[in-house]
Amino acid sequence: MEPNQKITPDWIRGAKARGEKIPALTAYDYPTARLLDEAGVPVILVGDSLGMVVLGYPDTTQVTLAEMRHHVAAVARAKTRALVVADLSYHTYQTAQNAVANARILVEAGAEAVKLEGGIEVVPEIRALREAGIAVMGHVGMLPQHVKEEGGYKIKGRSGAEKERLLADALAVEEAGAFALVMELVEPELAREITAALTIPTIGIGSGTHCGGQILVTHDLVGAFPWFRPKFAVAKADVASAIRGAAEGFVRDVKTTEYRPSA
Ligand code: KIV
Repeated sequence: MEPNQKITPDWIRGAKARGEKIPALTAYDYPTARLLDEAGVPVILVGDSLGMVVLGYPDTTQVTLAEMRHHVAAVARAKTRALVVADLSYHTYQTAQNAVANARILVEAGAEAVKLEGGIEVVPEIRALREAGIAVMGHVGMLPQHVKEEGGYKIKGRSGAEKERLLADALAVEEAGAFALVMELVEPELAREITAALTIPTIGIGSGTHCGGQILVTHDLVGAFPWFRPKFAVAKADVASAIRGAAEGFVRDVKTTEYRPSA
């Protein structure tokens, strides 16, 4: 990757053929997007995980398109070299027509691609998006927007029927025109098989090491959401303690009148 090269969906699509792995992280605001970009992260996802780690919802199903739009615009203001992908939020792509109309709202806010959850059942929506000139990232395996029906976040692809279905879903999403595929909580051996079967890169989350890339919620990576972290996410920093420590120090200084503003 050239130092200042703008990342495009086609560049990501070609990563598997080039033997290049794709690291991807989430951002929901301007400074985080800038920091990730400066760190060389090629894909920034404005994920609807926004609902839990920023907005305090119990899951992603309460996130609205207006909220997504607001955070996509903040990330886009960072003018990143990284590709900015935005999640189409819950119930915004029930038909091909509303998928395109709602994706356009995110694209106007600055998204360079959209992500949507599902396999064979979302093929018409992916095709319509591609025909409208909108780049699409797929998402199969555990689908957070279906967490209520699923009864929790569970590993997918352990039974024979589920394996076949997941492979068929992945192939259908690629065939419909997606440039990459997120695989969430897919049983690692199956994730390896699916990765080998596709020409587009797979980007795993909780799906083992044999994917074409890995994605994490940045709050999990930097330890900024200490009340819950999925088992597969290893924190490389402890931002929560840094914030708590700084705030406690400030409280102490103000109460003991040692606080000295510099100006
Ligand atoms: O919403 C999100 O952040 C996601 C990823 C973690 C894959 O969909």
